[in-house]
Amino acid sequence: MIQTKDLTMQYPNGFTAVNHLNLQVNKGDIYGFLGPNGAGKTTTIRMLDGLLKPTAGEVVIQGKSVIRNEREIRKMIGVLPESHGYYNWMTGAEYLLFFAQLYGVSKNKQKERVEEVLQQVGMTSKANIPIGQYSRGMRQRIGIAKTIIHEPVLIFLDEPTLGLDPQGQRDIQMILHDLNKKHGVTIFITSHLLKEISEICNRVAIVKEGNLIEEDYLESLLNKYGSLKVDTTEPITLEEVFFYLTDQEDKEMNL
Ligand SMILES: Nc1ncnc2c1ncn2[C@@H]1O[C@H](COP(=O)(O)OP(=O)(O)OP(=O)(O)O)[C@@H](O)[C@H]1O
Ligand SMILES: [Mg+2]
Repeated sequence: MIQTKDLTMQYPNGFTAVNHLNLQVNKGDIYGFLGPNGAGKTTTIRMLDGLLKPTAGEVVIQGKSVIRNEREIRKMIGVLPESHGYYNWMTGAEYLLFFAQLYGVSKNKQKERVEEVLQQVGMTSKANIPIGQYSRGMRQRIGIAKTIIHEPVLIFLDEPTLGLDPQGQRDIQMILHDLNKKHGVTIFITSHLLKEISEICNRVAIVKEGNLIEEDYLESLLNKYGSLKVDTTEPITLEEVFFYLTDQEDKEMNL
């Protein structure tokens, strides 16, 4: 679904935020992209979805270069950025209708599609309330509804559960799970919540300082590092693998 070839971003100040990244996301994956703050996750997502032009390397989505096929790619993907502005005066339904129009959902299907996505994110009963009055969890749900309004086959979510309470996190997880399992949407997600990632992702990548440290099926990754664990009474968690791989100073302490 997505392939990157030596994807690199050197910002104008000379700082290399992403360094020769080679990723492979398969159709049907829920792919967790992990790394400490500043690792280059948001920079990578912005290059994957075509918002930021790489300084070297390229991104290919379903065999097509993202930079050279912008229009076609736009129709195939949905993006929920790290921080995104809402039109607070609009109701949820108005906001979604606006994006249905913007993304070229055919006129006779727009209303129906808005109702469909409202249902998918559990916001039908809140559809006619202005977004300005939504809680953070409700905003995130409407954000996801917006992201899928044009039925993309691939969506990018940058920290979709940031700041949500455990119930809100669980709700978003369930929405993503259903999107993936029932509608076959491939999902690329960043999150700091490693427990959450290990609950929903089948594949994960770990980046640090712009470099890819690991990319594998979750199960293989846990198997691979499981044998390094000193205390073997409990199976290794993704969190332990993450700290082991990203905290070079004190490996022994972390396992
Ligand atoms: N416009 C810019 N110019 C220079 N450096 C930048 C720019 N934007 C980001 N960076 C730097 O690039 C690095 C990666 O930033 P990025 O936002 O991609 O990280 P991240 O992994 O998403 O972090 P977080 O977990 O905090 O969201 C950081 O060191 C950041 O300071
Ligand atoms: Mg980020």
